[in-house]
Amino acid sequence: MSTYTSLQARLAAEPRTWLVTGVAGFIGSNLLETLLKLGQRVVGLDNFATGHRRNLDEVRSLVAPAQWANFHFIEGDIRSLEDCRRAMRWSGAGADETLAVDHVLHQAALGSVPRSLADPLTSNEVNISGFLNMLVAARDAGVKSFTYAASSSTYGDHPALPKVEDTIGRPLSPYAVTKYVNELYADVFARSYGFASIGLRYFNVFGPRQDPEGAYAAVIPKWSAALLRGETVFINGDGETSRDFCFIDNAVQANLLAATAEAPEARNQVYNVAVGDRTTLDALFGLLRDALQSHGVSPEARPTHRDFRTGDVRHSQADIAKAQRLLGYAPTHRIGDGIAQAMPWYVRNLQR
Ligand SMILES: NC(=O)c1ccc[n+]([C@@H]2O[C@H](COP(=O)([O-])OP(=O)(O)OC[C@H]3O[C@@H](n4cnc5c(N)ncnc54)[C@H](O)[C@@H]3O)[C@@H](O)[C@H]2O)c1
Repeated sequence: MSTYTSLQARLAAEPRTWLVTGVAGFIGSNLLETLLKLGQRVVGLDNFATGHRRNLDEVRSLVAPAQWANFHFIEGDIRSLEDCRRAMRWSGAGADETLAVDHVLHQAALGSVPRSLADPLTSNEVNISGFLNMLVAARDAGVKSFTYAASSSTYGDHPALPKVEDTIGRPLSPYAVTKYVNELYADVFARSYGFASIGLRYFNVFGPRQDPEGAYAAVIPKWSAALLRGETVFINGDGETSRDFCFIDNAVQANLLAATAEAPEARNQVYNVAVGDRTTLDALFGLLRDALQSHGVSPEARPTHRDFRTGDVRHSQADIAKAQRLLGYAPTHRIGDGIAQAMPWYVRNLQR
């Protein structure tokens, strides 16, 4: 039995209380769905900056009513320390029910390299000041664990492949700076206050509920939407840029394993969360087109290559040995499996 399978059985037998920030977003709403299906109690915090109520509605439709009753949503902003503190100790309307959070899964942030280049101030406020508020609130509340979304962008301009956690370069964007500062603050909180957390460096996570719209959309939902709508697919650069695309189920698994890791050597660490594969953008285009064809959609579009995008890392591929060794992480989906699983959702939701 895998570490994750036995963990799921343990959690189902003894439910805990979780705080998911960014719960209305892509990764947050998938964490919510898995936790509720495991019978956990979940407090969610979001200000809908980039997340959507429809993501929460969809989770509601996918879980049993009794499971949904275990979810308590707070509309709030991580830039407010008060909102962060409120989320750590949720109280029902009559204040007769109070939930003290065991595990924090901190996902709320402003993602996207280009967004941070266009508006570095807001990315800094949310991703750094908001992160610090969450750390302070979690430390003061005495939660059992604090797991946060770090990013592969922290590898910056370091050329080595695959990426190993302790070898990073210089950040290539304000977004990358914010995610690296998160790691620095997390480490200082462990040293200064004995508050040990875990950072998960996600590598291009994809799956259902990832937002396809807008200038800052991620490549897989954006291209899937374009193909489904007969619009042009733009490939930034020569098509040889590569990424370690990570299906959402792998990222959810990493979060649950990290949050419940008890070995001291596993805490106060950062981990790559990916698969260990590398797919070029040209190859990704082919995979998406083929997957759509197997759903009876025959996209006519050919991709159009355009300039490289400022701030983008050229190649990215993770070494996942550390997460395998210390967390028992075992990704269940490679890119093709993930696309096959996500495609019905794209077909249902992205066509106009
Ligand atoms: N998706 C990826 O490939 C990827 C890669 C690396 C890191 N990450 C990180 O993972 C986390 C989740 O990303 P995602 O892809 O789900 O993005 P997302 O935009 O779908 O989710 C982020 C959520 O945070 C919320 N949020 C933003 N600012 C907030 C604030 N001030 N207060 C409260 N809530 C706020 C948004 O409304 C949204 O629901 C982020 O921290 C992101 O930087 C994601």
